[in-house]
Amino acid sequence: MDTWENLRSECLACRGCSLCETRHNVVFGDGTQDAEILLIGEGPGQHEDEQGLPFVGRAGKLLDDMLEMVNLDRTKVYIANIVKCRPPNNRDPLGVEQDACMDWLRRQTALLRPKIIVCLGRVAAKAIIKDDFRITQEHGQWFTRGGVQMTAIYHPAALLRDVNKRPETFEDLKAIQAKARELCGHTEV
Ligand code: URA
Repeated sequence: MDTWENLRSECLACRGCSLCETRHNVVFGDGTQDAEILLIGEGPGQHEDEQGLPFVGRAGKLLDDMLEMVNLDRTKVYIANIVKCRPPNNRDPLGVEQDACMDWLRRQTALLRPKIIVCLGRVAAKAIIKDDFRITQEHGQWFTRGGVQMTAIYHPAALLRDVNKRPETFEDLKAIQAKARELCGHTEV
C-alpha cells in the first residue's frame, strides 16, 4: 500500500525525465495530508526549485493572500504541481515531462482523496480537467471527474501581470469557499 513517506522518497529520487538534470530540488508538495482541497499548479519556479516547496516566490505570496480571503491557508489545503521539477527558464512543462510526472500526482490524489480540486492556471486545467480548457472562458466553472468536483482559476502569476483579472478571481474564490462549505466535512472555511 502507498504511504506518503514511500511516495515522497520515491518521488525525490525520480529520474523520469530530463528535468532531473537541471533541478536543485524536487518540489513534492506542501500542506496537510488530510486536506479536503487539493490545489494544483504548473511547476516549480526558481524559488521553489531552491527551497523544495511549492509557491514560495511572489506568486506564492499572492496565492497565500488569495487563500486567506476565503479563510483558507496551507494548514487546510494541499498544494502540488503538474511537474515536480523546474522547467528551465520557467517555460511551460512539455507534454513528455507532464506525462512522465503525472503518476506522482495521481498517487498523491489517491492518498489524499480530496473533495475539491482547484487547478491554478491553464497548464493544470488542461492536464487535469480537459485538454481544450480555455482559462479565460472557463475559469470558475465546475466539472466532475471521478466523483470529484473540480474548477480552475487564473494562475497567481497571471494575476501579478494583470490586476484586471483579480475581481473575477475573487468571485471564483468565493464560489470555491461555498463549495467547500457544502462538501468538506472537517475544513472550516
Ligand atoms: N508556479 C507554479 O505553478 N507552481 C509553483 O510551485 C510555483 C509557481
